[in-house]
Amino acid sequence: MICIVAHLFHRSLSRHTRLCLLPYLLCFLSFLHFLYDGMALQGPRRFPLFMNIIDLRQTTVRQIEPLLEEEARHWRDELHWDYRGALELIKRFLDAHALAGCVAFENGVAVGYTFYVLEDQKGLIGGLYVSSKFPQDSIGPRLLEELLVSMRAIPHLARIEAQLMPFSGPVDTPLIGQGFHLYTRQFMLLDLHKSHEAKAGASAGMRLNRWNDRYFDPCAKLIYLAYTNHVDGEINDQYRSRAGALKFLKNIILLPGCGQFVPAASFVLHEPGSDELVAAVLTSEVSPGVGHTTQICVLPGYQGHGLGRMLMQTSAEALRSMKFRELTLTVTSDNRAAVQLYEKLGFHTIKTFTAGVWPR
Ligand SMILES: CC(C)(COP(=O)(O)OP(=O)(O)OC[C@H]1O[C@@H](n2cnc3c(N)ncnc32)[C@H](O)[C@@H]1OP(=O)(O)O)[C@@H](O)C(=O)NCCC(=O)NCCS
Repeated sequence: MICIVAHLFHRSLSRHTRLCLLPYLLCFLSFLHFLYDGMALQGPRRFPLFMNIIDLRQTTVRQIEPLLEEEARHWRDELHWDYRGALELIKRFLDAHALAGCVAFENGVAVGYTFYVLEDQKGLIGGLYVSSKFPQDSIGPRLLEELLVSMRAIPHLARIEAQLMPFSGPVDTPLIGQGFHLYTRQFMLLDLHKSHEAKAGASAGMRLNRWNDRYFDPCAKLIYLAYTNHVDGEINDQYRSRAGALKFLKNIILLPGCGQFVPAASFVLHEPGSDELVAAVLTSEVSPGVGHTTQICVLPGYQGHGLGRMLMQTSAEALRSMKFRELTLTVTSDNRAAVQLYEKLGFHTIKTFTAGVWPR
């Protein structure tokens, strides 16, 4: 499972200094003015729209604050996610003029923005948001195109990953146009107060333990093995090595970008007498009373025996006992085994969104 937008910020936090220094941050075309053909616009505004797109590093927090607040409301209302912590971090980067990206203005009002962070030779598109009061269908793709042209001009950039919540109009066309491979992802929700008839999972004689920091290394190995030749390894290349999986784990457990880690609802399974992990479920709190499964995986060879179901049920039960109301997660639609498991447990899809990877 891949934690969405918010934890990207924290990868960038540790690279704050680099972001400030690296010369390729200058790659954006600043003050690129262009005129939209108002006749072609769909959506709430139908008169000619004069819009300019500028480098995010040339804006101030004050200029885009209303846009950020509107975005936080969407995250709260549609995804039950308190996005304010992530926005605070964005603001700190904006203040430091260290966030690479672009923002669209109309008559001095910020109407949309997008940004990316760099991690070695990889670029991560951290967000794309267009105000619902403006024609998202035209502004969103335009912003994304600007961003991608700039990113593609960065020397040595070998890979771009994007996971974009649908708060910005259609993104598939600009991504495909730039040679991205797209994946459909689902944002799913379980009402913890509703009882479900799902059959009980089995532990098959395994030892079930609460999360402890001594599991970092064995859990990284488990993730690496569980996602070998897996669609999520195509979307997030951190899953393709033990070192990458360890980085992923540290992001979701130690940093608050993907919510606040909840060790009491996070468990590992291992054979008695062995330190090697067979399965794990990790959970964070993304808003008061709402948990988010940031990782669930079972070692190949142990899959299909009820361990995944048991871990999800154990985590949900732990959350219930802590008075949580809901549990959410994201899953790639092609991952049928996982989607079926979640549906049987009572999860339903509340949003679909696009993940894209370049090169294909
Ligand atoms: C997804 C995963 C966690 C499921 O764990 P598991 O222990 O294999 O699953 P379970 O044995 O508990 O199966 C529970 C349900 O999941 C579904 N399921 C599990 N494996 C399946 C498969 N190969 N094909 C289709 N459905 C499958 C079934 O609906 C099953 O219900 P059933 O027993 O009534 O048939 C596990 O396959 C895994 O680790 N996959 C790789 C990592 C991954 O995809 N993680 C989830 C990312 S969102």
